[in-house]
Amino acid sequence: PKKDEEQMIEAHELLRKFYHHLLINTKEGQEAYEYLLERGFTKESIEKFGVGWSLPSWDFTVKFLSKRSFDPALMEKAGLLIKREKDGSYLDRFRGRIMFPIQDAKGKTIAFSGRAIGGDEPKYLNSPETSIFNKSSVLYNYHGARAAIRKQQSAILFEGFADVISADRANVDNGIATMGTSLTEQHIQMLRRVTDSITLCFDGDKAGMEAAYRASIMLDKTHLNVKIALVPNKLDPDDYIKNYGAEKFQNDVIGASLTLMAFKFIYHRQGKNLKDEGDRLQYIEVILKEISNLENAFERDYYLRQLADEFSLSLEALQQQQRQIFYSLKKKGKGSDQKTRSMITLAPST
Ligand code: GTP
Ligand code: MN
Ligand code: MN
Ligand code: MN
Ligand code: MN
Repeated sequence: PKKDEEQMIEAHELLRKFYHHLLINTKEGQEAYEYLLERGFTKESIEKFGVGWSLPSWDFTVKFLSKRSFDPALMEKAGLLIKREKDGSYLDRFRGRIMFPIQDAKGKTIAFSGRAIGGDEPKYLNSPETSIFNKSSVLYNYHGARAAIRKQQSAILFEGFADVISADRANVDNGIATMGTSLTEQHIQMLRRVTDSITLCFDGDKAGMEAAYRASIMLDKTHLNVKIALVPNKLDPDDYIKNYGAEKFQNDVIGASLTLMAFKFIYHRQGKNLKDEGDRLQYIEVILKEISNLENAFERDYYLRQLADEFSLSLEALQQQQRQIFYSLKKKGKGSDQKTRSMITLAPST
């Protein structure tokens, strides 16, 4: 007899094919298919990523699996069915959703994420954690993108599945995404095996900027080469590609990726009015702290000059201030900002 995990994967593989068939070949899947085309998905991308449709039925999947002799209790453990408390009967977890199959590093389907059409909540419903699906060690499209990541020696991390698929359609085929959660050490270990350069291309909204800041710091700590591609106008990469096309996405978004420090300059500027003296001083302080955290002395010097130029400050005063921060960080451990208080006395150079 097959092991439980083998059966769970087999059920996922069969369902992936059937959900896909429902989406592209049947009347029941027509509305969902048209929704996807309307959003800019193509037939090719729907096929390549195995996108499907689960019927809005309570027991379609229950019957599909029982006909093929899968044990419903095991299928519940696989996250495909839900057990009713009151009578112990089973129902489908995914009903009336666009189905994105989630694959492991070998390309086997181990979970689904189902997107509602219309305003149903939640927007995305994921398989629960199971013995074959552990969110913190799965990256969407890792298997599909791995060869491209190796070849280009770079991976692009997106926030959403739709972003990965649209980017692929725009010939950016080294894209991956988390399951909507933050990046973990396990994710980073998986990526390290194939490349040492990661570009973050998150949604252009406030949440995306915050997530990019957190992820970039994690990646930098593990000495991965990190770049940040900002999507303008609060769009996400998928929206951007739909509005502006593949070429502009390649050139003006991915091609214009920022170094970590250049991103930090922009990140810390958010919500600040640099014409206001208080905001400006706060900004200079926080940038000096970031500069102090750089390991390389040439880099520290380079960004100090940039800061001095931009705000017409004396380089000597900035260097002195930065050295103070540097040594106070070294002595007291990171996070102390006592010394930076004296910034207030820093006068513009003449
Ligand atoms: P679309 O609206 O289909 O374009 O989705 P999106 O990819 O732009 O989604 P969004 O930016 O809102 O979220 C990014 C990712 O977070 C998604 O791809 C999901 O993985 C995850 N996510 C979003 N909404 C939900 C939700 O309601 N539940 C869960 N579990 N995850 C979600
Ligand atoms: Mn959202
Ligand atoms: Mn978002
Ligand atoms: Mn998004
Ligand atoms: Mn989107």
